[in-house]
Amino acid sequence: MAKSNAPIGIYDSGAGGLTVWQALRKVLKEDLIYYADTGHLPYGDKSRQQIISYSDTVINFLKKFKVKAIIAACNTSSALAVPIFQPQSSIPIFGVIEPAVQSAISISKNNRVGLLATNATVNSGAYDKIFAQQAPLIKLFSQGCPKLVPLIEAGQYDGPEVEAAVKEYVLPLLKNDVDTIVLGCTHYPFILPVIRRIAGGDVAIVDPAWQTALNVKKSLADMGILSNQTQANYSFYVSGDPWEFSVRAHQFLGEKLDNVSKHIQSEIEAETGAEAGLKSLIPIWRGKKDE
Ligand code: DGL
Repeated sequence: MAKSNAPIGIYDSGAGGLTVWQALRKVLKEDLIYYADTGHLPYGDKSRQQIISYSDTVINFLKKFKVKAIIAACNTSSALAVPIFQPQSSIPIFGVIEPAVQSAISISKNNRVGLLATNATVNSGAYDKIFAQQAPLIKLFSQGCPKLVPLIEAGQYDGPEVEAAVKEYVLPLLKNDVDTIVLGCTHYPFILPVIRRIAGGDVAIVDPAWQTALNVKKSLADMGILSNQTQANYSFYVSGDPWEFSVRAHQFLGEKLDNVSKHIQSEIEAETGAEAGLKSLIPIWRGKKDE
């Protein structure tokens, strides 16, 4: 039985999951261990097998901290890996797709919903499946957006390039008369003002972060494992460059993260040549970004 004051693990390919982390921090008083698998970013153009394998490594890493639950703050992993790992896991693993669908169902009036997501999420059919199960009358129009995550992770949240990409992806949805657009990638709230500008005031935009946090809170309460702490601790692990992640997080959250550590995944280091010779999967370099 998980201890109620055990931490919660949360992961994404990069900084996008901070949108969910931020909602969790507002809704819960729980210790959160965030993992950004930036060494493999972006997930959205990787194969199903790669996404499952990356998610497996991250989930196993988080489990070493005796977390009481894990949140895949990543639609791509929620679509492809969570359905595989959730049924066999000893602790709950939450994804972000059900909460996104739940919000869209409650908002759409004309039953025409647009989805912006990575190619891997769109091609997985995960959203189609859940909408078909929960609201068969809703017609879903899906749009893969391969340009967005690289732009966002490069720190571009507005400007001509972002605007052109958002137009390319949002205009086809508007042509299909959608009244609701689901941000089916946790990175997209970073560019919400641009999406709103292009979509116009009549279209509702769904960011699943808030609903995810509320659902997690309810589930933990139902399981009797909500923490009774009055203070929460936050730590961060990154498989790529911790400094780059800190900069991105600062830009988005408006605050500095002071507990960002590098997790050396030997396979990434072998690819980049940065840490040649480090073979073990889990040696952890803990320290501040400027150490
Ligand atoms: N933020 C992730 C998602 O929600 C992953 C994006 C990516 O790495 O391509 O899908």
